[in-house]
Amino acid sequence: MKITVETIAAMKTRGEKIAALTAYDFPTAKLLDEAGVPVILVGDSVGMVVLGYPDTTHVTMAEMEHHLRAVSRAKPASLLGADLPFKSYETVKSAVANSKKLAAAGAEFVKAEGGREILPQVRAIVATGIPFCGHLGMLPQHVLEEGGYHVKGKNEKEHLQLLEDARLLEDAGAFALVLELVTPDVAREISKCISIPTIGIGSGEYCDGQILVTTDLIGLFPWFRPRFVKPRADCAGQIKSAVAAWKNSVEFPKKRN
Ligand code: KIV
Repeated sequence: MKITVETIAAMKTRGEKIAALTAYDFPTAKLLDEAGVPVILVGDSVGMVVLGYPDTTHVTMAEMEHHLRAVSRAKPASLLGADLPFKSYETVKSAVANSKKLAAAGAEFVKAEGGREILPQVRAIVATGIPFCGHLGMLPQHVLEEGGYHVKGKNEKEHLQLLEDARLLEDAGAFALVLELVTPDVAREISKCISIPTIGIGSGEYCDGQILVTTDLIGLFPWFRPRFVKPRADCAGQIKSAVAAWKNSVEFPKKRN
């Protein structure tokens, strides 16, 4: 059965936890869908874990559309979303135009980073009929200004700002909210105070759902792994062993009698 934003809202109402993962290509999307993951996000993390950029600020709309089209060809039952990349939603006009491009490439929702400062963009996107997911806490597109990936909500000012931004995004029409690197207590409070689902990443167990970058979960990007992720597989190790075994069989073929 096709998962919709209504399905996700109903999961929160029923107290069912929501699992979400990223995908950037057709086979991964097929596998996540077959595994029954309800939400797939073509995150701008594609820039770091697939395209080799140092952070997400280099990702372009063209790159997002390219990866999104590949994922969309998997026709997942999962709800499929995509990130609006860095500087693609600075104005209401660009936010709407770029959300429409992502929707045309297969996105069933779009996600953008920020709170009160992007409310006009959020309202305009929602008014076009494209569902919008917020993203608060550590905002990877701001990593250069912030000088790293820091936990948010540790002091009263950040705590109140996060809570207020979550309420404002809900009022502006967001259907869900990603909370990245938010202290577990603040993530719990936000999850209780708003009626839309919160999807946490490195924000503790009290969110309504959890999202991970799939390459972190399956151990496919061993050069950097966030501290909060416990990989469930060692795909990098398995690829290296398979390649080494095959290479060995080519270089030293068994003699036939
Ligand atoms: O880009 C991304 O992968 C994200 C995370 C929330 C998973 O935004």
